[in-house]
Amino acid sequence: MTDLAIRPYRPADLDTLRRMTVDAFDGVTLEQNVESALGLLADHDWRWRKARHLDEDAALHPAGLFVAEAGDRIVGYISTRIDREAGKGRIPNLAVAAELRGRGLGRRLIEHALDYFRTEGLAYAMIETMAQNEIGQHLYPACGFVEVARQVHFARRL
Ligand SMILES: CC(C)(COP(=O)(O)OP(=O)(O)OC[C@H]1O[C@@H](n2cnc3c(N)ncnc32)[C@H](O)[C@@H]1OP(=O)(O)O)[C@@H](O)C(=O)NCCC(=O)NCCS
Repeated sequence: MTDLAIRPYRPADLDTLRRMTVDAFDGVTLEQNVESALGLLADHDWRWRKARHLDEDAALHPAGLFVAEAGDRIVGYISTRIDREAGKGRIPNLAVAAELRGRGLGRRLIEHALDYFRTEGLAYAMIETMAQNEIGQHLYPACGFVEVARQVHFARRL
């Protein structure tokens, strides 16, 4: 992908990023697993809940949200958080348009975020993935991350 650029987030991107998130995370988000187990909750489906993660990314740390663009089309993004005191960078969300996957864009976005963390003087980075996400489990070790824990999530209706 030669005409691809990774640039800082702009507020006008938010609707596109929300849509991309809902498309991309079908099958690989905790929000959907919760809905599969418990059904519809508070009259909102998992897509509504997952899209809000992008609202949070944009509101809490817009300077660490990066957008991949091919021509004038948004084809991916990566979001970050920084805990400066702990020296920690975290990647909460990452997505690439389905038809452009498997060409190294996910890895480029991760490298971009890691460079950003380095520029910010951080000591380490963390990312997590669902056990059902085969691509994440392949990609993150390939980007130098080592597995440090597995977590089990529980949910119940009230
Ligand atoms: C995760 C995601 C961002 C990766 O984007 P991408 O552009 O495809 O990433 P890359 O092309 O850089 O790398 C994908 C790697 O996974 C590998 N891969 C593809 N399908 C795979 C599968 N079913 N099982 C294991 N590995 C797989 C590819 O071969 C490639 O590895 P390689 O570079 O060693 O060949 C993209 O798949 C996506 O948007 N997924 C849906 C949302 C998501 O899961 N986000 C992350 C949540 S933790």
